[in-house]
Amino acid sequence: MSKVWNFYAGPCMLPDEVMEEAQRDFRDFQNTGMGVVEISHRSAEFSEIASKAESLLRELLHIPTNYRVLFEQGGGRGQFAAIPLNLLPENGQADYFVTGHWSNCAAKECAEKYGKAIIHECTYLNSDGQYDVDFSKMTVTPGSTYAYICINETVNGIETLENLPDTGNVPLIADMSSNIMTRPIDVSKFGAIIFGLQKNVGPSGMTITIVREDLVGHARKYCPSVLDWAVLDKYGSMFNTPCTFAWYMAYLNFKWIKSLGGVEELERRNIEKAKMLYNYIDGSDFYVSKISKNVRSRVNCVFTLKDETLNNEFIAQSKALGLVGLKGHKVLGGMRASIYNAMPIEGVKALVDFLKDFEQRYK
Ligand SMILES: Cc1ncc(COP(=O)(O)O)c(C=O)c1O
Repeated sequence: MSKVWNFYAGPCMLPDEVMEEAQRDFRDFQNTGMGVVEISHRSAEFSEIASKAESLLRELLHIPTNYRVLFEQGGGRGQFAAIPLNLLPENGQADYFVTGHWSNCAAKECAEKYGKAIIHECTYLNSDGQYDVDFSKMTVTPGSTYAYICINETVNGIETLENLPDTGNVPLIADMSSNIMTRPIDVSKFGAIIFGLQKNVGPSGMTITIVREDLVGHARKYCPSVLDWAVLDKYGSMFNTPCTFAWYMAYLNFKWIKSLGGVEELERRNIEKAKMLYNYIDGSDFYVSKISKNVRSRVNCVFTLKDETLNNEFIAQSKALGLVGLKGHKVLGGMRASIYNAMPIEGVKALVDFLKDFEQRYK
């Protein structure tokens, strides 16, 4: 197998150490004679995996004791429904701070099915022609039950953790699907945080919800039990059979993060990688970043070629060199390099070398 650098936005590359441990356990989990996916979720072996995953997550993110951690299915989009179903009363309203594709999808899910979503379009084109975020638009409307934000817009390449809105007593609900575990966060600033595993934590198939305990227990009567946070909490996230493999992979990833020195060390690495890539793009007049420096994502670098007729050539040549997954999301086009936790600096160097070489040949 030849090594490739995988820049897909998710599912995406996972750390070598994690993949190797999973490979060993896949056939025989710790001499049980059973593969890790063959073990019952009710067994002592799986209970240990499940509880270690939760305690490592709590330790790595310093999750306060008054927060519950739920391991769910249904993906990020499942939580777009679960959030209003668990929090929004009938005829209630919530504020949605829209900064890109995924917050827009969450707002639409609420508005079309569950209640009033007050949409605050927070991005705008600044005087340099770059997308920026107007944080003054992130204000809560009187009477709203919660305010919603997507901290890292995977499609648009916009990250806004530094400028969180002050929502007072109104809980701020955050989608951190693509930047969780990439940097420290202060969990106590949020009412709930949701994230799918498939970028920085594991394979697809599981979503984790970290939710303040006073926000659990208010679901609508018709909220499906599998999305009801109180039901999940009561049954230790095993009301139905959980996605055991994804849960196990999350455990391995959390162990790996701890062994490196925690999310603090990953933040250092992620800043270094992002700087290397954006510095090259900013210094070139062949590639363009349309995202303002104030809000650029450290993990999803969205860029375009000035001459977009070269897009197909760029993708074909990068792929031939083992740089895969650089094509931008279908709603935006252009290019996107996702450089999550598992991408080492060598992968980013290889990408920058290719960017240089391609530029020199096609300028
Ligand atoms: C930030 C963010 N939120 C939500 C989603 C949707 O997740 P899912 O496909 O698991 O429903 C994605 C998917 O990539 C995402 O990047």
